[in-house]
Amino acid sequence: MAFTIFFATSTGKTEDIADRLKDLLPGTEAKDVDNISSSDELVSAEALICCVPTWNTGADEARSGTAWDDYAQEIPGLDFAGKPVAILGLGDSSGYSDFFCDAMEELYTAFLQSGAKLIGKVPTDGYTYDDSKSVIDGKFCGLAIDEDNESEMTDERLSNWVKQIQSEA
Ligand SMILES: Cc1cc2nc3c(=O)[nH]c(=O)nc-3n(C[C@H](O)[C@H](O)[C@H](O)COP(=O)(O)O)c2cc1C
Repeated sequence: MAFTIFFATSTGKTEDIADRLKDLLPGTEAKDVDNISSSDELVSAEALICCVPTWNTGADEARSGTAWDDYAQEIPGLDFAGKPVAILGLGDSSGYSDFFCDAMEELYTAFLQSGAKLIGKVPTDGYTYDDSKSVIDGKFCGLAIDEDNESEMTDERLSNWVKQIQSEA
């Protein structure tokens, strides 16, 4: 299954993670959703990894503060039936402990409504935070990454997750 990585970023951390994912998945492309021509590029991917930071603290929608916010509105009306989609979120579990990686849930729900096969859910063990909209049925709905406080854990989290999504796709 050929993954395409889609990301958006405000200060570059999510782009860096997308690049590191690309290294773990040789042959994979990483595309900034600010630069894609339309949602057709999302729909035409065989399998997607969607990397999203959280900036709009406490919001019910438009939580990423990036181009993902517009796509999150559009995705439910698109046809992703059966297509594997993995979500990865960046956040700050200390500074924004009540809203850790909240934006993941918004993309997750949008893709769920589009018929996609959501893969890559992760246990909350090993994370320290107070609340997150992205915990669904006791698990993060994608991989949570905290480059602000736990960057030393990122390599291991990424490599374990890549194996997981490859087996689930
Ligand atoms: C003004 C501001 C608001 C933020 N809001 C949240 C938040 O609600 N939840 C969270 O987990 N992280 C929050 N963060 C942390 C960012 O998501 C985190 O630093 C992320 O790595 C940034 O990714 P980027 O460089 O790709 O934009 C916020 C950071 C700033 C500066």
